[in-house]
Amino acid sequence: MIRLRALLFVAALLPCSFAAAAPGKAAIASAHKLATEAGFDVLAAGGNAFDAAVAVSAALSVVEPQSSGIGGGAFFLVHRAKDGKQVLVDARETAPAATDAKAYLDANGELDRDKSVNGGLAAGIPGEPAALVWVAQHYGRLPLKQSLAPAIRLARDGFAPDARSLMRIGQRKDVIARDAGASALFLPGGEVPGAGWVLKNPDLARTLELIAERGHKGFYEGEFAEKLVAGVKKAGGNWSREDLAAYAVREREPIVFQYRGHKVVTAPPPSSGGIALAEMLNILQGYDLTRLDRVERTHLVVEAMRRAYRDRAEYLGDPDFVKMPVAELTSPLYAAGLRASIHPKKATPSDSLPGYMAPVQGTDTTHFSIIDADGNLAAVTQTVNLPFGAAVVVPGTGFVLNNEMDDFALKAGAPNAYGLVGADANAPRPGHRPLSSMTPTFVIGPERTLVIGTPGGSRIITMVLEGILAWFDGDAPQQLVDNKRFHHQYLPDVISTEKDAFTPAERKALQAMGHVLSEGEQPWGFMNAVDWNRKTGELRGGSDSRGVSGTALVR
Ligand code: DON
Repeated sequence: MIRLRALLFVAALLPCSFAAAAPGKAAIASAHKLATEAGFDVLAAGGNAFDAAVAVSAALSVVEPQSSGIGGGAFFLVHRAKDGKQVLVDARETAPAATDAKAYLDANGELDRDKSVNGGLAAGIPGEPAALVWVAQHYGRLPLKQSLAPAIRLARDGFAPDARSLMRIGQRKDVIARDAGASALFLPGGEVPGAGWVLKNPDLARTLELIAERGHKGFYEGEFAEKLVAGVKKAGGNWSREDLAAYAVREREPIVFQYRGHKVVTAPPPSSGGIALAEMLNILQGYDLTRLDRVERTHLVVEAMRRAYRDRAEYLGDPDFVKMPVAELTSPLYAAGLRASIHPKKATPSDSLPGYMAPVQGTDTTHFSIIDADGNLAAVTQTVNLPFGAAVVVPGTGFVLNNEMDDFALKAGAPNAYGLVGADANAPRPGHRPLSSMTPTFVIGPERTLVIGTPGGSRIITMVLEGILAWFDGDAPQQLVDNKRFHHQYLPDVISTEKDAFTPAERKALQAMGHVLSEGEQPWGFMNAVDWNRKTGELRGGSDSRGVSGTALVR
């Protein structure tokens, strides 16, 4: 494929040349009503979409502690209306300097899943606090103190965690119970709390205040950093003060490509999402999907997924250290080659078939989408990885540490919690950022703009793909976030589906083409999308009905 470089042409990427009338109102879709409201509070106080993004992000850190938080990481995709600047603020966690891949193996040299997902060794250096400070300083209009105020209030005054949070506490109870700080917060009296329980978290309020008052250094240096390092060590990890002091967000150029006359702006490495999305949409661009029946269309979409995830496993990693053939992978010419390898009626077997391992279904991690009255756009996906991350709370801090180290290919070829395999490009090395699937995305056409993203582990990228395809079919945001989903990730060589995503006849037809289907009971993802018709000025939002507290509002 490297040889393709010689043949490459760079597609002329249309700048956003529309004369966009500002919408005058704003739309916010997030996973929690209290977070959506926090965003509108900050807009009402004179903030823009980026101040609102800080407010929503911090509020989600409080009200969805299982999904994301101060101890985790984030990607903030930004489109600034006044000058068209588009950038990804990469606040992905980094591996501490003491990272040693061998530490995650058991006595037989196999990946020890307990070490990779539970306890201090699972945690990377958090990026979320740095993102809040950076986005407020560089893109917001309000002081950080003001954008963090709603989150601080929620942490101090308390709120009633929703049924989804309580269910996740139940799921992770045994691991939470191992850690004194985490149990004190989430297992009052040693038990999984019931409906109506109010979670007050004054420690988190103080941590957020520290960030509001002292900015980046308040978290990454000094006394607070010292407390974190000692706490992580006690929990079996190996952070140093230097690791924290060295943490910085990176501003990265988004992956940008054309799909059916629209500009798609999406997450670059260390997310695999943008490159995989470009590969899939570039492949699918060669077909008139609207003229195909559901079976033919699903077959082609699955074949596009399979090819994109194969490249993900082989090539992608942290762009600060790993050389990746990004231009090749995202080029229409490369996609044309891949398209030519797709048989219209037969599944292509993935190269080799390891034992089938059901990827963890996920609704944790969280995504929100914002369009403000001036036409600024923010798409933010943030995470602590698995529910409640590493299930470690350093006493006095109020937040869980992530378990993002599991997103590295800790052992080459051994599937991670999402069944994803990887190679040297994503090996755990000091200072590296683990490869992510988080795919915050804008689709900007001559008349319409979509802001979209979702949690869902390895399925994030294919959910975003299916959301975009549905939007092109004419679905409104609420419809496209609610649609049933399917997924293929190269290995295992299986189309996984939500319940009833296909009729029995469709399943049979896909099986006859050589596809293996696996239908799960649990719903996937928690997509939050907003769109803007720039001709009529109409704003719309959709928050996934799969989530109990999701709220999309236009005001
Ligand atoms: O960055 C990633 O790709 C993962 N840590 C995201 C995890 C996730 O979406 C979990 N929930 N569904």
